[in-house]
Amino acid sequence: MSGTVARAGGGPIAGARVRVQACLGDPVLTDAGGGFTIAVPASAAVVAAAAADGHYNGCWKAGGAECATVGPGASGLAITLDPLPTDDDPAHVFREPETCKFCHPDIYDQWSKSVMR
Ligand code: HEC
Repeated sequence: MSGTVARAGGGPIAGARVRVQACLGDPVLTDAGGGFTIAVPASAAVVAAAAADGHYNGCWKAGGAECATVGPGASGLAITLDPLPTDDDPAHVFREPETCKFCHPDIYDQWSKSVMR
């Protein structure tokens, strides 16, 4: 599948790391125009997640608010990454652990059954 990675409200991000779900294989890096093409398993529904220094991780959302699954052969996946704040934020609220589950289901399951929960 293929698409582009861009900064929210800005231009393309070169060198963003794109994966089929987190922690599954090595990333593909976006080119100078933010473009990527990544090989995906033939049968699985997959998620395009991207990471770049100075940005929150992101995913393809299919125009909605949440990460969306996508099948092999999809093209034109536009992934937008929000920039990290540049200043310290004393009012920062940590994200709820449930928000991690979509991209990290195995780690979430392991953690949720552990005393670290
Ligand atoms: C949109 C999908 C997505 C969500 C949601 C998400 N992550 Fe990740 N996470 C990733 C990707 C992609 C990477 C790999 C980043 C990279 O290549 O630098 C990653 C990497 C990590 C790593 C580093 C793992 C390693 O081996 O280096 C940690 C720790 C982590 N995530 C924790 C979390 C936590 C905690 C949450 C919830 C608050 C969370 N993630 C939510 C996609 C996501």
